[in-house]
Amino acid sequence: MLIAGNWKMNLMPHEGMMLTHELCMGLSDIPSHVDMLICPPFTHLAQCSLIIENNESQLLIGAQNCHASDQGAFTGEISAPMLASMGMDYVILGHSERRILFNESNDVIARKCHAALKAGLIPIVCIGETLEQRNQGIVNQVVQEQLLSILQHEQIVNHIPAHDIVFAYEPVWAIGTGLAASPEQAEDVHAFIRMQLEEKLGDHASMIDVIYGGSVKPENAKEYFLQPNIDGALIGGASLKAESFLAIAAQA
Ligand code: PGA
Repeated sequence: MLIAGNWKMNLMPHEGMMLTHELCMGLSDIPSHVDMLICPPFTHLAQCSLIIENNESQLLIGAQNCHASDQGAFTGEISAPMLASMGMDYVILGHSERRILFNESNDVIARKCHAALKAGLIPIVCIGETLEQRNQGIVNQVVQEQLLSILQHEQIVNHIPAHDIVFAYEPVWAIGTGLAASPEQAEDVHAFIRMQLEEKLGDHASMIDVIYGGSVKPENAKEYFLQPNIDGALIGGASLKAESFLAIAAQA
């Protein structure tokens, strides 16, 4: 089970350091089959990973984005090898906020995913439909398109059997809205994603974590974790407080 926290553009560095410290302390009460991951803003990564190291904690750390190129004239961007050299474990890619606010296409996300795998990072690729698409009855079609842009990418497919990759199903209408998908709605899509993974990757599909994101809270987390095809959660708002993030992880 993977319990991942996406801090987005929240918390000042000292707040992030405090939260990281609290999570390191709280991790001892979390069952050992649960991997806990934090994804702070770029500016916090060095300090937060130092805290993890000093506490000899199993807490995992990753970034929220990377560029598709390894280096070059891309003002303001951060590359996957840079993140890997800082000891990052994961990188979130294709979050709906990046897709919508920063116009990231499936193709751009696939290229970022390849860069991340090449650098030895585990990408968490976010996929999911908007409310409009759900109302049109095209959820599977949208999710399939997003998924296949990764799974049919020649260079990525060659990397996947040897590397880890995580998919996060995040219905856009459930993110930060308090309007979570019902466990059944989520499981339906997760089962579809698993089927697609099996079709493309065969036996390896069962090794890939597919996690749910969108208004996951301590009050509703358990119901998701009981679903056969949900392998964890990607959490925004509730990951900003140690108490709620640990309370979710304790149920995994
Ligand atoms: P939320 O965000 O938990 O605040 O809904 C989830 C996400 O954006 O990954």
